[in-house]
Amino acid sequence: MVQENKALFIIFGGTGDLAKRKLYPSLFRLFKKGNIRKHFAVIGTARREWSNEHFREVVAESIASLNPTQEELTEFTSHFYYQAHNVDNTSEYQLLGKLADSLDETYDLDGNRLFYLAMAPRFFGTISKHIKSENIMTEKGFNRLIIEKPFGTDYNTARELNDAIAGSFNEEQIFRIDHYLGKEMIQNISAVRFGNNIFESLWNHKYIDNIQVTLAESVGVEERGGYYDQSGALKDMLQNHILQVVALLAMEPPTVFSEEAIRTEKINALKSIRIYNEEEVKENFVRGQYGVGELGDQTFVSYKDEPGVSPDSQTETFLAGKFMIDNFRWSGVPFYVRTGKRMTEKGTRINIVFKSTPINVFRENNDLNSQLPENVLTIYIQPTEGFSLTLNGKEMGDGFNIDPVKLDYRHSQENLYNSPEAYEKLILDCLKGDATNFTHWDEVANSWKIVDIIRETWDKGDVDFPNYSAGSMGPDCAFNLLAKENRQWIWHPDTWYKEQGLLK
Ligand code: BG6
Repeated sequence: MVQENKALFIIFGGTGDLAKRKLYPSLFRLFKKGNIRKHFAVIGTARREWSNEHFREVVAESIASLNPTQEELTEFTSHFYYQAHNVDNTSEYQLLGKLADSLDETYDLDGNRLFYLAMAPRFFGTISKHIKSENIMTEKGFNRLIIEKPFGTDYNTARELNDAIAGSFNEEQIFRIDHYLGKEMIQNISAVRFGNNIFESLWNHKYIDNIQVTLAESVGVEERGGYYDQSGALKDMLQNHILQVVALLAMEPPTVFSEEAIRTEKINALKSIRIYNEEEVKENFVRGQYGVGELGDQTFVSYKDEPGVSPDSQTETFLAGKFMIDNFRWSGVPFYVRTGKRMTEKGTRINIVFKSTPINVFRENNDLNSQLPENVLTIYIQPTEGFSLTLNGKEMGDGFNIDPVKLDYRHSQENLYNSPEAYEKLILDCLKGDATNFTHWDEVANSWKIVDIIRETWDKGDVDFPNYSAGSMGPDCAFNLLAKENRQWIWHPDTWYKEQGLLK
């Protein structure tokens, strides 16, 4: 039996792209499943003057691809209300509060409120201050605040932002979204690790040679050039998504699978990541920016020619780096990470590369340098979800040739279709008060400390951009980063395209 959750959603930035692309469709999916049904209402607010009717039309449009029946559409959108609102105008918050109270009564919402800030972070402080001062919070139900990234632009600004919000909401009421934590397979990292003794008992420096995390995107910056050019891959992807994945891979097993225990371990893991000095940053992190490129019959413009991007931009659209984790478990094991726009394929995957056998007993001519292929556990996060394990077996037939075989488990398309969208899952978690898949302030703070020194170092030196072609897997320096340690990236989708003559 699906349990209905009662709540009023107040969405600041209700006319925006995020609301239309992610929030309304997610709310509709929750509605269809019965997680919200009769006792919910949504107030969309933004500067524009819209009527309820117009707002409902926009909401209807945003869920059209989910094929609602006419009945569902009418019923669902009837819960949506619009209130034009200037975030700096105190008296307008009072109007908002009145509407909220009346909807609470109409729909019998028990005073539960979820404030969603789908707006630029510079407004977070003033909105949360007014929510409190103008009494839009309730006494009897829950009051929760969901905020989107970027949470600050460095440690200091993040701290200021946090202080501003903390004046109105306490840490337990703040839900900081990192949509990667809503992805099914990210949660499955924990299932693979803690549900299988064969992995968890090998999950350390004695058996693992290195770990590789790739978050590759095939898209460019699309319409977000203005934002992205100020941010770059470091703040857009590494500070949040990549470090969260690294924390989940590196953390100690929690005593129980509870919000608090997981958070504590993730924070400990983040605290153990070595903070580099400038020299170490130069040694261990590289960046890139895409130039023109071709992949099959597609041609791409260079980043500098994208709309909203400065023609002499020094912003990185790619980065690769190595983290070291200074604790008992991980001492000496490199965590290689990379992310970029306009790479060969979209794909988020993790490769756990195990150490080779101590000696190759099948060696020929007593060649003591010969090594068997390493066992690799791959966790696929998207676009397919699942995992695979490569093991060495004997090739059929005469002789004794070792042949790597791949045990592959990927979810079917049907399962994927039914699996909840990241935002849907996170909104439901928030309704239930479960913050496991949200980022705690301590995690944000530690992530910024790791990132700040990289940014500072990079800002001091000039770079020769562009340095990789759109459609490739990044600049040479990213390959050299591993090659200089006698390793290589396990995932190389570009090879296939090159073999087919689709990529130079
Ligand atoms: C966002 C970044 O957080 O994540 C985007 O701002 C990026 O630049 C996106 O494209 C990637 O998310 P996903 O779910 O498509 O891998």
